[in-house]
Amino acid sequence: MNKIGVLTSGGDSPGMNAAIRAVVRCGIEAGLEVWGIERGYEGLLDGELRQMDRSSVGDILHRGGTILKTARSERFMEARWIDKAAEMLATFGIGGLVVIGGDGSLRGGLELAQRGIRVMGLPGTIDNDLHYTDFTIGFDTAVSTVLEAISKIRDTSSSHDRTTVIEVMGRRCGDIALYAALAGGAESVLVPEMPEDINMVCRKIIEGSNRGKLHSIIIKAEGTGTPATELTRLIEERTGKETRLVVLSYLQRGGSPTLNDRMLATLCAAKAVELLAEEGQEAESKAIGIVDGHIMAYELGAALEVKRAFRRELYELINVLSK
Ligand code: F6P
Repeated sequence: MNKIGVLTSGGDSPGMNAAIRAVVRCGIEAGLEVWGIERGYEGLLDGELRQMDRSSVGDILHRGGTILKTARSERFMEARWIDKAAEMLATFGIGGLVVIGGDGSLRGGLELAQRGIRVMGLPGTIDNDLHYTDFTIGFDTAVSTVLEAISKIRDTSSSHDRTTVIEVMGRRCGDIALYAALAGGAESVLVPEMPEDINMVCRKIIEGSNRGKLHSIIIKAEGTGTPATELTRLIEERTGKETRLVVLSYLQRGGSPTLNDRMLATLCAAKAVELLAEEGQEAESKAIGIVDGHIMAYELGAALEVKRAFRRELYELINVLSK
């Protein structure tokens, strides 16, 4: 193989640029031509490919977002368009592809792998919802952003003796909420993996207030049952305490990646290129991630079937620490 492609797909995440940079520079070092594909699978279908050189990825390591742009491709859901994407790669003579994205993006990569492309999947999503890896690229930065917001909200909440509900991203995975609540000292956390108990949330607010607590912070993952505005209203009604809602939304997806995200992105990308460049390697597609501090590569299809257990002990610890 002497030509590889790289694309970013789905929701962007801080660290994607660090990954692109390492794919390009490690690829060139290994004697490969590296082609950047714009706007994920959408751009691939539209033939938006350009050859990358070392300087094309200069000054991006520290930037959030993705210089290759990204998209959620509706067309790529259909077999005939996936066939077309595989043909497009063949037309450009690209036999190996690095896909940086979340679960849906890596599943798209698996489809291409089944059509003869050698795919290396890198976990690029703030959600931390790819279970074969302990952490995904962008998660650490997103949680750090939430922590910064919690500190600021805490200041004004105590001045006004208020409760604040902070909604964070995570439709099916509550990890952003869970880690931010634990590290940010929230009173309660609502995650999709656990049953919602609004009465318990209210009870904790009242007990805290009776002990002299000046404010309460409730972290809610976007994917939990009661919508945030309704939850906020119910809490105010049941506790009698002024309650405000802050939806952090896309703030969590931007910003300069943290050390952890830069390291994870760079090391996963280097591993992907190492595997693509290996001579005589069985043409297996892989998902790359970090497990117990080590960069690991697993067979792509099998990796996407892995189910990691919800970290209930962290959830319980939040309740103990906020009593
Ligand atoms: O998958 C990443 C993510 O940021 C989710 O946390 C969020 O629910 C979703 O993307 C938002 O997607 P969009 O960018 O399409 O609004």
